Order: sequence, then structure tokens, then C-alpha cells
Amino acid sequence: MIDPQPTCSAIGRPVLTANLLSWYADIKRDLPWRDSCDLYGIWVSEIMLQQTTVQTVVPFWQRFMERFPTVQALAAAAETDVLALWSGLGYYSRARNLHAAARVVVHQWEGEMPSSREQWQSLPGIGPYASGAIASIGLLERVPAVDANARRVLARLAVAQPAEFAGLNPAQQQKMIDDLGADWVPADSPGDWNQALMELGALLCGARRAHCPECPVRNHCHAWQGQWVEQVPPPKTPTAAVPVWVGQLLVTWRDRILLVPPASPPVPGSFPGRKTLRADFGKLHPGLWGLPMTPWLAGHQTPPWQSEAWRSWLDLPEKLWPSSAAFRVAGHFRHGITKYRMRVEVLQLDLDPRQEMPARWVESETGSNRIPKAKQGLFFAPRSARPPVSKLTDKGLHFQEDTGV
Ligand code: ADE
Repeated sequence: MIDPQPTCSAIGRPVLTANLLSWYADIKRDLPWRDSCDLYGIWVSEIMLQQTTVQTVVPFWQRFMERFPTVQALAAAAETDVLALWSGLGYYSRARNLHAAARVVVHQWEGEMPSSREQWQSLPGIGPYASGAIASIGLLERVPAVDANARRVLARLAVAQPAEFAGLNPAQQQKMIDDLGADWVPADSPGDWNQALMELGALLCGARRAHCPECPVRNHCHAWQGQWVEQVPPPKTPTAAVPVWVGQLLVTWRDRILLVPPASPPVPGSFPGRKTLRADFGKLHPGLWGLPMTPWLAGHQTPPWQSEAWRSWLDLPEKLWPSSAAFRVAGHFRHGITKYRMRVEVLQLDLDPRQEMPARWVESETGSNRIPKAKQGLFFAPRSARPPVSKLTDKGLHFQEDTGV
């Protein structure tokens, strides 16, 4: 039988709690949403912090709060404006849910923010972790907020027999640690405690490397005492990366670029002898506009850029469409989505600026991100006021090399 709580004996736990809280008070990072009682700002920060590092979130949070300083301002915004500000943070369903939740608070609850973890959890996109974080930090409710960092810290502190722990299945391991997490939250500073665990996991108690000599609670830590820190959690076997090749088409006309609407399928056509890995890009980037793209291609090849296939798919006037010689390779970049490592070739086509373009390809509310509701098809968006685009398209527009892939 695994004893998950030997370090939380009646004597040990208050000392552990005091040590961790005092360490946190000394070293905590100065983050703009900390030390604020603004529940809305805390809520936005916790949604952004899911799957994203603190350093990345800070500038996004600041821009977001400047533009939408209150839940009322967020609820009144158009979804495209919310997505535009989220552009670059990824996981866009977070933004859509945040926006939908703000509308519930404003329109159904008369602007009254939830006053308990349970109420927070009834809003779109708010699960056990986010509701626990918001309620403990913003409402001082005694509830846990156990993210991956906190879970690792708790496991190292509390698991007495790592071999037996490793024998449990992942769901059992998680339940055991989460139960412990709930039990250990101190009544008088739940938010600081939860953040201290996360901070310890982020700064000292890393998955691959732990800085135990600097740890404020090492004397209460089974992993430190047993010298098996790096064994819990067991190292993950990395999923094998799958290389894929994609072609992106960048068509420019005057100061505009051609974008395809959210959920557009890739360009149809024959890609002989190659297997298409995903049929539909739109599912990957819901709500976001993009550059026209080929399907994902397995195996290295130059995408067959047949200008007629593109022209008929894009349905642009024939007289505007030049010969295939006018296409030029503008650049290559890398992009990672889940296990796929994409190598993207950007083909550029600059249309004659002296030619007039039929209104249906250019009409938009210039000077704002708003696209007329009726606009379903592709169109030439002004570069300076384009609708929100996927990160993949953003890279195609800027040729950012992503060396991390
Ligand atoms: N990760 C998610 N929320 C956090 C918080 N409030 N402090 C530190 N890390 C976090």
C-alpha cells in the first residue's frame, strides 16, 4: 500500500507550509496580475496560462487588458477582435470560450462575477484547474489548483515508494496526487499556496532537472531523501516526430493579400503518388483566416504548383492570372503542430497592381478587423487591417524561421 502522506504529519505539514509560503513571498515573480484583486484580470491570466509559459503570457495579457479592461468590454467585443488579440498565443478555443463566458456573465448574470469555484466551473472553458486557480487566488476559497508543475512537486514531496507509484496507471497517479493537493491547501492562504507549488515546479523542481539544494522544502521531501527526484514522474517517451511538407500561396495585389476564410479545405488537386495526411486544415484553425495551402504531403517533394489548379480553386479572373512563370518561391519555414514537423514552401504571386479587381474580392471594412458577416469567400484583405490569421499563416506572411521545430 502506498502511503501518500508521510510528510504531512501533524508536526511536519505546518512547517512545510510555512517554509514554502515564505519562500514564495521572497521570490515570487512580479507579474502584472499578481497582487491584484481584479477577478476579471486573474481569470484572463489563468486562461492564457493554460499550455503557455508565464513569459509568453505577460505581453499578451497586457495588450488584452488594455483593449478589454472589463468583462463588459470583452462581452461587447466582436469575436474576430478577441481572436485578433489572441493571435500568436495559440489554442484559440480558449479565446472563444473566454469570450462566450464573458457574455454569460454580462447577459445572464447581470455582470456579477461567480463567487465560488463551483460557479466558475459552470462557465464555458473553465475546468477544475482554472476554477481552482481563480477561486483560490481571487476569492481566497480553500480549493486546490494542481497543474503539471504542482503535480510533480506534490508527487516528489509525498510519494514514499516510487516503484509502487510507477506501477499505478496514470489516472490513478493523478487522482492520488490531486486528492493530496486538495488536502494540503491551507485555509488562510490558498491562492499563495497554489501559486507557490506551481512556482516551485517552474523554477526549481523541474521535470528533467531539480535544484534540490536551493529548495525550501527539501527536508520534507521523500524524493530528496531517497535520491530519486528525477524518477517521479517517470520520463516520458517522446512521440516520434512526423515530417510533412506543405505549400502555401501568397498572392498580393496592391497593398492587399489574398486570404481564405476559416475552415477552408486545402486546395484540391492531384498530388500524385503521395499520401495526404490531413484533409482539412480548417479543423486545425477554427475561426482563423489563412493563406491557401496544399494538403499535408508525406515525403519530401516540391508541391506541384500547377497554376491552373490554383486559379480555378481561387476563382480569380483569368485575365489577372499570369503564367506559371510569374510564381516565385518566396521562402521556406518550419512549423510544428502536435507531432507534425512541417516544412512549408511559400510561393508568391504578385498580381498586376494596375489591374482593377472585381469588388467581391476586395470589399471589406477597411481600417478595422471586421469582415462583413456575409463574406464567406476568400478576399484580398488589407495588410494593415486583416482579420485574425492562424500562426501558420502569420509565419508565411513574415517568413519567421522557427528553429524549435
Ligand atoms: N501557472 C498557471 N497559473 C499560474 C500562477 N497563477 N502562477 C504561476 N504559475 C501559474
